[in-house]
Amino acid sequence: MEKEFARLLIEWYHEHKRDLPWRNTNDPYLIWISEIILQQTRVAQGYAYYQRFIERFPNLESLAAAEENEVLKYWQGLGYYSRARNLHQAAISVNGVFPVKYEDILKLKGVGTYTAAAICSFAYNQPHAVVDGNVYRVLSRFFGINEPIDSGKGKKIFASLAHDLLDKIQPALYNQAIMDFGALQCTPLSPDCTVCPFKNRCFAFNHNMVSSLPIKQNK
Ligand code: ADE
Repeated sequence: MEKEFARLLIEWYHEHKRDLPWRNTNDPYLIWISEIILQQTRVAQGYAYYQRFIERFPNLESLAAAEENEVLKYWQGLGYYSRARNLHQAAISVNGVFPVKYEDILKLKGVGTYTAAAICSFAYNQPHAVVDGNVYRVLSRFFGINEPIDSGKGKKIFASLAHDLLDKIQPALYNQAIMDFGALQCTPLSPDCTVCPFKNRCFAFNHNMVSSLPIKQNK
């Protein structure tokens, strides 16, 4: 079951994936920058900011050596400026060496469990499952999970299921695949389920619940 889920997902991804600049690198620094930008910013807008940012600050050293004001200048227009301040402070704090262990990455200012899992998998191919809005949506629909995604119990259920489903041999590929699947196919509104490779096994599709999942308790 887990293997079949991962197989179908990765098969879908090979046909539909987006070519995004931060996917053509294993550099944890570049992946970190991209994930912090994309935390509250859409890919379409974040793209150009990412390019400008890494051109001026191509590595930890250049970011750590910069003045905070200049870092903020490159964030101008993106909002949530604490993201830029945290990036700068974290760059200074690691003394030129990007951490490798999940627990150490999680300690960086501005990095939560989603971002730590993204960096660990994309940069180092470590078996950490990403759990973001895309993943909540895909899993809640496919498995018909009606536990609220913003409850403590719901978060535990989804995190545990996401880990079970993760392809442990190719976690980077699997994580990219489920995020693109959520962003492009299993969309929040009016997904085109007729072309979905999961439609025969998707609980929500077969019970007419696509538009009512996932469930949030605080709406
Ligand atoms: N949103 C957040 N991280 C992303 C990534 N790595 N690729 C595409 N969209 C994203």
